[in-house]
Amino acid sequence: MLKGKSLIDPMDFSIDELEEIFKLADDIIENPEQYSKIAFGKILATLFYEPSTRTRFSFETAMLRLGGQIVGFSEPNSTSVSKGETVADTIRVVGCYADIIAMRHPKEGAPKIAAMYSEVPIINAGDGGHQHPTQTLTDLLTIRKIKGNLNNSTIGICGDLKFGRTVHSLIKALSRYKNNKFILISPNELKIPNYIKKEILEKNNIDFVEAKKLEDVIENLDILYMTRVQKERFFNEEDYIRLKDSYILDKEKLELAKKDMIILHPLPRVNEIDYEVDEDERACYFKQAKFGMYVRMALMAKLLGVV
Ligand code: CP
Repeated sequence: MLKGKSLIDPMDFSIDELEEIFKLADDIIENPEQYSKIAFGKILATLFYEPSTRTRFSFETAMLRLGGQIVGFSEPNSTSVSKGETVADTIRVVGCYADIIAMRHPKEGAPKIAAMYSEVPIINAGDGGHQHPTQTLTDLLTIRKIKGNLNNSTIGICGDLKFGRTVHSLIKALSRYKNNKFILISPNELKIPNYIKKEILEKNNIDFVEAKKLEDVIENLDILYMTRVQKERFFNEEDYIRLKDSYILDKEKLELAKKDMIILHPLPRVNEIDYEVDEDERACYFKQAKFGMYVRMALMAKLLGVV
């Protein structure tokens, strides 16, 4: 029973609960009209303390497509946050007006604090370099739709594995399915944090290797998950400039890959996928962005208890 729950971490829901959300998303994709009024009278608040295109617009269009309404901000300085209001107080107040809240915040753990004070479901829409569970729902729905299931894959995750919150959430989630293997491709400075390596991968005996060059491992991959080097998380611009073009996926590298490998990216991209790759049928990142809206429709319908 998902009604009334919050989603802060990808592990908050069981595999069965995730499957419930994916099955509903499948049905919404097939029969959108049937769901176009189910959230009539419900209001989503989007509290975005950090920039976003996909996550905020997909949440908002998801609620509108369910027949509900939206309020929110994308610029906290236009709100009483600029006067020093805490997350706890903002949440208690917004919860008086809205039925469900999606929140993005630069501080790791802020949505968890919000959930402790909230009377309505809180959805973590990304907290600092920590977690991004609804991007993971998007990624899982995309893999499930295109590959048929979430087991038995070799997944290459390439780029900024240190600050990339989508990476941390995806590894956590995919580690719960059967027989998945990870190849973690990054420069030394952007390796996966120890809490993911030790607490998730090693503790659960998940098969993984770390690599430095994409072209050395691309032939083994069923899924390639490219990521952007997260400029906004660097303390020093020189380091960012040195590392930002560590990996660029282009046609030449793709020639080494399996014909049925799929390429995912949470987006936005900067330089890490050449535009010529967009024409390749293995490029699935724009489909992925669309699935993000459908899975957020399913998630909110479940948390609101309107299905
Ligand atoms: N994937 C993702 O979180 O994109 P936005 O930052 O545009 O929301």
